[in-house]
Amino acid sequence: MSGVLQPGERVSIIDPKGNKHSLVLEVGKVFHTTKGGLAHDEIIGRSEGIVATTTGGLEFMVFRPLLAQVMVGMPREAAVIYPKDAAQIVMWADIFPGAKVLEAGAGSGALSMVLLRAIGPSGHLYSYERRPEFAAVARRNVSDFMGTTPEYWTLTTGDLNETIQDIPIDRAVLDMLAPWECVETVGNVLIPGGILCCYVTTTTQLGRVMDTLRAHGGFTEPNAVEPSLRDWHAEGLAIRPAHANSGHTGVLVFSRRLAPGVQAPIRRRRPAPGAYGADYTGPLPKNMYFPE
Ligand SMILES: C[S@@+](CC[C@H](N)C(=O)[O-])C[C@H]1O[C@@H](n2cnc3c(N)ncnc32)[C@H](O)[C@@H]1O
Repeated sequence: MSGVLQPGERVSIIDPKGNKHSLVLEVGKVFHTTKGGLAHDEIIGRSEGIVATTTGGLEFMVFRPLLAQVMVGMPREAAVIYPKDAAQIVMWADIFPGAKVLEAGAGSGALSMVLLRAIGPSGHLYSYERRPEFAAVARRNVSDFMGTTPEYWTLTTGDLNETIQDIPIDRAVLDMLAPWECVETVGNVLIPGGILCCYVTTTTQLGRVMDTLRAHGGFTEPNAVEPSLRDWHAEGLAIRPAHANSGHTGVLVFSRRLAPGVQAPIRRRRPAPGAYGADYTGPLPKNMYFPE
């Protein structure tokens, strides 16, 4: 995106205290503050990165919003994946230009935007969302952000297990309450070497999805990671972690698909004592070495 700011574009304006406001530019419209009005016409036709001033002298820096800002600021029905987690998904799920990626559920479309940007027009994103009202929000958010509904995006309204298309997929990302219910389905379309990433927010989800992947047998030993990002304050001699920092969001589980008919080698590592105790009712890994 380049060129001068046009009517209909969204801009982020930032005052000297760092307060941000979001505006959709409209010819003749005025943004009112306690220090006078800021005419949109002051901004339209100019480049981003300018400083625009209200009639009372209050200065605002003007920028186009970044994807990370759009993701957390856009209308939402379902909770969105946060930028810090989405960034790690792109790296560790190895999302590449031209990739065929499956995503469920689409929710508010935040991760869809990130994936679409990473795969580009030579790839294809197949998103599934079982709640029609959420799918409508995702569609609107994606087309607002991209200026159009991309041709390389297919959004299917329906449960992934019931509506999945039989198309080979390079990468899959599940962000849903019960991702373990979709492991088998995704395993059927994921190419050998393909990566499945599950984003979970609770420890019970984490345990269940890890054990389901092991029990499937056609996936590598999953690894789980919690991305954490700490802001820093650095001014003069006052250099320390920022007071306000983001708390827990979720854990990412990654695993690779083995070739059809291939089972993961028997694990030589014993599970932690009590990991699968007498009262354990979940799935049992087919390929795990159990102590006597
Ligand atoms: C937390 S939201 C996803 C948010 C999305 N990743 C984003 O960044 O905007 C989880 C969504 O998964 C959907 N969902 C849950 N199970 C599903 C399934 N089996 N098939 C399709 N969608 C499902 C829910 O309706 C919900 O909208």
